[in-house]
Amino acid sequence: MLSIDEAFRKFKSRLELNDREQQNAASRHTEVREYLGTKFDISRSFLTGSYARHTKTKPLKDIDIFLVLAEKEKHYRTESPSIVLEDFRKVLADKYGKKSVRKQARSINVDFGVVIDAEDNTDYRVVSIDAVPAFDTSREYEIPDAESDDWIKTDPEIHKEKATAAHQAYSNEWKGLVRMVKYWNNNPLHGEKPIKPSFLIEVMALECLHGGWGGRFDYELQGFFSTLADRVCDEWADPASLGPPISKAMDLDQKQRAVRLLSTASRQASLAIDHVRQGRNGEALRAWRELFGPKFPLS
Ligand SMILES: Nc1ncnc2c1ncn2[C@@H]1O[C@H](COP(=O)(O)OP(=O)(O)OP(=O)(O)O)[C@@H](O)[C@H]1O
Ligand SMILES: [Mg+2]
Repeated sequence: MLSIDEAFRKFKSRLELNDREQQNAASRHTEVREYLGTKFDISRSFLTGSYARHTKTKPLKDIDIFLVLAEKEKHYRTESPSIVLEDFRKVLADKYGKKSVRKQARSINVDFGVVIDAEDNTDYRVVSIDAVPAFDTSREYEIPDAESDDWIKTDPEIHKEKATAAHQAYSNEWKGLVRMVKYWNNNPLHGEKPIKPSFLIEVMALECLHGGWGGRFDYELQGFFSTLADRVCDEWADPASLGPPISKAMDLDQKQRAVRLLSTASRQASLAIDHVRQGRNGEALRAWRELFGPKFPLS
């Protein structure tokens, strides 16, 4: 029978980006960029966000593409953020269909109609992307935020450096743990996602996973869930100290719900650990599977 450590290693690798997925993401990026380039003056574009940092979970949804607007489009920066978002939406809807294109606070989501099977597999395809119009101010980027009706500053490089440093300080296990908890967050059993935005999980992990990798996935995750429950009500700033607090998206009710669900996860983890102590390996595997969802292996 699969040991708990083997199961976690398998789970971790299932949440890793593989070559075929990277190829699909690259070709979607090229497709979107080339199309938008015929409608807007775009100086350059790149894949960013959790995808680029390897902290995105599966299935691959909402991959961020920054589209850096050139001089000719500067007028948008003086207008309300919703103007550029609406113009992006219209243009993308012409190509991908109105129903597949959605305006969000900071980006336009394009859904490619990929089917997700019961095991959360997508045949190595990206489900959707977030097209983010951006201006390069040379020190950082400014992106539209329709929620605050303002432009916000962001620096993907700083976020990437912090994630890399945290990963290295944690024996290269940090990103795997972040992807696992983001996968838990997406478990449809919860209904609404407990933690929003899921970037908040990564931001909290920068502080909540410290002291070094202890060598056991089960202990690490139990402790991580428990610390997240303790600290999810705190205010969490942008790690680059540029944009609005990452914790701003949840109201008090949502935070209290997150505390409950994270505490439950921590308890489920403790029970799973106890199953192993009592020699009930199969029970433990099933408990982790229930906690995380179909990508956690039973065999
Ligand atoms: N409040 C903010 N201030 C500054 N930058 C932000 C803020 N929120 C998000 N970002 C940046 O924008 C990127 C994309 O945001 P998004 O919410 O898609 O997070 P993500 O890390 O890509 O997580 P997910 O896996 O949920 O897509 C983040 O990775 C981060 O670099
Ligand atoms: Mg993202």
